[in-house]
Amino acid sequence: MTRLSLSSAILAALATCNWAISEDARLLHDDSECSAEDGCTLVALQRGAVKRTHDEEAEKPRSDRPTKSFTSSYRRPKMIADSPASKFIVNKDCEKPPCSGQVHIQLGGPGEMVVVFASQPESVAEPLVRFGKSAESLSSSAKGTTFTYSQLMYWNHQLFDPVIAGGREMSTEEAAKLMSTDTWAYDKRTGWKYPSYRVIGPQQVEERMGWYKNPGERYDSPAIHTVVLTGLEPGVEYTYQVDNDGRKFSFKMPQEGQHYPYKVGLVGDIGQTPVSNSSFHLLQGLKPELVLLTGDLSYADGYYPRWDSYGIMAEPLNARVPVMSCPGNHEYASAEAFKSYNARYPMPYAQSGSVDPNYWSRDIGPMHVVALNSYAASGPDSFQFNWLKKDLEAFNRKRTPWLVVMMHAPFYNSNLGHLGEATVMMGDLEELFFKHGVNVVLAGHVHSYERTWPVYKNETTVCAPVYINIGDGGNREGAYAKWLPGEHGALEPTWSAFRQGAFGMAELELSNETHAQFVWKRNACFDNGEVDFHPENCSTSGDNSKNALKHDDISWIVRSAEACPNQA
Ligand SMILES: [Fe+2]
Ligand SMILES: [Fe+2]
Repeated sequence: MTRLSLSSAILAALATCNWAISEDARLLHDDSECSAEDGCTLVALQRGAVKRTHDEEAEKPRSDRPTKSFTSSYRRPKMIADSPASKFIVNKDCEKPPCSGQVHIQLGGPGEMVVVFASQPESVAEPLVRFGKSAESLSSSAKGTTFTYSQLMYWNHQLFDPVIAGGREMSTEEAAKLMSTDTWAYDKRTGWKYPSYRVIGPQQVEERMGWYKNPGERYDSPAIHTVVLTGLEPGVEYTYQVDNDGRKFSFKMPQEGQHYPYKVGLVGDIGQTPVSNSSFHLLQGLKPELVLLTGDLSYADGYYPRWDSYGIMAEPLNARVPVMSCPGNHEYASAEAFKSYNARYPMPYAQSGSVDPNYWSRDIGPMHVVALNSYAASGPDSFQFNWLKKDLEAFNRKRTPWLVVMMHAPFYNSNLGHLGEATVMMGDLEELFFKHGVNVVLAGHVHSYERTWPVYKNETTVCAPVYINIGDGGNREGAYAKWLPGEHGALEPTWSAFRQGAFGMAELELSNETHAQFVWKRNACFDNGEVDFHPENCSTSGDNSKNALKHDDISWIVRSAEACPNQA
C-alpha cells in the first residue's frame, strides 16, 4: 500500500515552480539542477525548512559544496483549474450560458421576500427579478446586489492533519476514497450525477494535493445575486422570474398575524442524498406556509461545489416555499466558517436587531420564531444572550401567541450520538426559555427523531417547552440508532416521549392560539448500510428505541395561558 508521507505532503505543497530550499530555510529559485528523474531525495524536515541532499554531494563539507542550492525533486502538480473540482454549475439544465439557477427564497423583513440565485460571473450585470400577482404579467421588478467568494478546498487539511497531529498517516487509497463523491453525489432514481460527482483514483490524489498557490485547489463561487421583493401582501400568490432564466416560480406570501390553521414544515440535517430529495419532496407536498430547517444543509464540508449541487437539489422546494434556517456545525466546521451559508441563505438578522447573521428572529404568522447559533457564545456576557433576552422581553404574545425557538444542537437528547454536546448552551439559556414561555424548541444535529414531554431542568412539567429533534432529514452520514440506556447505568430519561433512528420530516399545524398538532412522518430507514424506502414497514438496523417500528408520531402541543403565566 502506498503511503502518503509528510515529506510528500510538503513537497506537494510547494506548488508553483521548482523551488530549492536551503538549510537555513531561505528559498532559492533554481531550475538548473536536479530534476525529478535524477534521484534527488528529501531527507528531513527541520524548523519548517526542507533539507534535501543529492547523493553524496550533500555529505561533503559545506565549503566543498556547489554554491548553488539544489532544486527539489518536486514537480508542480498538474493545474486542475478546468477540472470539475473547482467549477460550479448553476443549473443542471443549462446547455448554453448565460444561465441562472439555484433559485431560492426566504423571508426578509415585513412584506419582504428575499430571492437568491446564482449565475456565471459575466451573465448578470445588475441582478433583476420580475414579479407580479399574475403569471402572465410580471409587472413589477426589483434590483439587487451580487457577491462572490473564494475558498481553499478543505480536503488538504483532512489529509495533512493526521500527520501533523502525530496520528497515523493516511493511505492514498483512503485519501482517494475521501476525495471521491461517487457513492453519494448520484441520484439513483433519475441516474443524474450531481456536479460534485467525482471518482478519484490513487494517482489523482497526489496531483490534487496542492494548496493555496494552486488555482485548482481553490473554489470560486458563482455570482450570487440577492434581490429583495418588497411591499408584498400576506396570503397573496406571486410569480417571479430571475435574470437569464426562462422559468417562472410562484410562492404564496405567508400570512402574518393570527391566521389559522397555519402549517409549517420542519426538517434538519438535510444533505443531498436520495433521502434528502425525498424529504424536500414530501415537504413541498405539504404546501406549508414556510419550512424551518434546523441546520446542516449541504454537507459540503469544505468541498464547496457541493453548495451548488445542494442549491440545485433544493430548488424545487426552496424556489416556491421560504426555508428559514439556523446554522449547524456543517456550516461552520471544515473551514466553512459560515461563509457559504451566509452568502447564500441570508436570514433577517438585522431586521431583528441582531448583529450576527447566524441568530435572528421574526414574527411569522401566529409564531414568533427565534433562531439561535449553537456555535456562538451564549453566556450572560455574550452578544447572543443579550440579544435573545431583549428579543424575548419585547415580542408581542397578543400578535404571536406561539413562541418557537430553533437551534442546531439539542438541549434534550437521549441518543448516544452527540449526547450532551449542548450542555453549556443549555445552562446559559434554559431558564430564559422557561421564563418567557417558549412553546416548542426545534433542533437537529442528532440524525434521528425525538420528541420530549414538556420539560424543564430534566423534570417534566406542563408549562415548559416541548423539545423536538428532527435531524433525520437524510444526509449521507446515516441514521443514529443507539439510544439510552447506555453504558455505565445511564437510563432512558423520563422526558423522552417518542424516538426513532430513521429518516423523516415533520409538520406543525397551529390550529388556534392554544392548540397545535405536530406530526412526524418516517420516509426511509437505514438498514445494513442501505436505505430502505418503505416507510410503512421499514426499520433501522440496531435501533433499540421502543418506537422503532412506528412510522409516524402524532401529538398535540397545548399552550395554556391560564395555567401557565409564563406563556400568557
Ligand atoms: Fe450537526
Ligand atoms: Fe448533521
